[in-house]
Amino acid sequence: MSTKIVGIVGSLRAKSYNLGLMEAFKSALPENAELEIMKIDTLPHFNQDLESDFPATAQSLKDAVEGADALIIATPEYNRAVPGVLKNAVDWLSRPYGKNSFTGKPVLVVGASPGGTGASLAQYQLKQSLLHLNANVLGQPEFFVGGTGDKFTEDGELTDDTTKEYISSALETLISATRR
Ligand SMILES: Cc1cc2nc3c(=O)[nH]c(=O)nc-3n(C[C@H](O)[C@H](O)[C@H](O)COP(=O)(O)O)c2cc1C
Repeated sequence: MSTKIVGIVGSLRAKSYNLGLMEAFKSALPENAELEIMKIDTLPHFNQDLESDFPATAQSLKDAVEGADALIIATPEYNRAVPGVLKNAVDWLSRPYGKNSFTGKPVLVVGASPGGTGASLAQYQLKQSLLHLNANVLGQPEFFVGGTGDKFTEDGELTDDTTKEYISSALETLISATRR
């Protein structure tokens, strides 16, 4: 049976390195796996008042995540933290109360930045929320892609072979986590 993976990217930028990283995961999938990259740009700002009439875009995201065997989340780092659009998506996925979509879900967190740290602080902040939400967050591999200027084209396509090898290995680990 095919392993269904949902990908969420925390950047809305057209030539985003993090989107390019997610696309590289898609290109590296083994035959028994599929990856659907879900958009988060049309989600409304989270507002607890909207929970009783849950927005359709947020419900579609929840349905996709709940139907997936595993998640990959690629986050940029904004001001040493998770970008607001991504935190917004996490908040929608955590609600309504008692219907948190992350419970038990294997999640691989990855991130890319032009500097040396590979969005590590944002990744750890995201992992903190995901652990609280009882996701099965993979502690390893840690996936800090720094120096993106040398590893991606200007259009955001990953060209670095070492990162590509790391992606294949991380996919194996994530898929194994769905079988445990
Ligand atoms: C508002 C803002 C804050 C940023 N803060 C950080 C930061 O704290 N750490 C970091 O490594 N890069 C930071 N950057 C640079 C981003 O890593 C860079 O813009 C990156 O390309 C964003 O990811 P993307 O290519 O997927 O859009 C920041 C960029 C913006 C626009």
